[in-house]
Amino acid sequence: MDSRTEKTRRLWEHRAGLYDFGGHCEHVAIRNTRELLCGGARGRTLEVAVGTGRNLRYYPPQVKLTGLDLSSAMIARAAKKAEDLGLAITFVEGDAQRLPFADRSFETVLCALSLCTIPDQERALREMHRVLVPGGRLLLVDHIEYTRMPLRLRERRREHPRRLPREVAEEVGFEVGHHDRLFFGVVERVVAHRPH
Ligand SMILES: C[S@@+](CC[C@H](N)C(=O)[O-])C[C@H]1O[C@@H](n2cnc3c(N)ncnc32)[C@H](O)[C@@H]1O
Repeated sequence: MDSRTEKTRRLWEHRAGLYDFGGHCEHVAIRNTRELLCGGARGRTLEVAVGTGRNLRYYPPQVKLTGLDLSSAMIARAAKKAEDLGLAITFVEGDAQRLPFADRSFETVLCALSLCTIPDQERALREMHRVLVPGGRLLLVDHIEYTRMPLRLRERRREHPRRLPREVAEEVGFEVGHHDRLFFGVVERVVAHRPH
């Protein structure tokens, strides 16, 4: 594991215990995005960076879900939620930038509020493309680079500037079907697919 990814892993091991306390006000920024995105999942579904499992309750019952995360402490919380909800979910500790799955393993890949924390966003999106079947669906929501002034000035000072997930997704081969912005433009939602 490279040093940036290891640093990220340690950060989330440390934050795991507090992460869900921030959930009470997130609807102001993302509204009903979790319900909407998860409602679009079909078949074998991979949630990349599943975190503490805040999306688990919103997946349709037919979905066969695998949740992957870098942090074992985050996964432990997600596994507890799955147990409380009576859901059978496979959890895997692993890196989004090197997914431990064969090519074309999933009909849907979902990633929520996490690309902004994964060190190499392009590599992660390439991996999501690889593990999706042709025609498979990608569902994203993320905090994005600040494209509007004055926060744009702050963005330029970041050591590793963020990019629009939608643009990177297109660069790695996805076709974007829908995208929109919420919360003063700093949250982006994307529905895309891997072309046949
Ligand atoms: C802001 S939390 C979001 C969690 C969850 N997706 C949600 O919607 O609440 C970011 C998550 O990304 C995970 N993460 C960061 N880098 C990762 C990587 N390279 N591979 C897999 N997970 C990663 C962290 O461990 C953390 O659980």
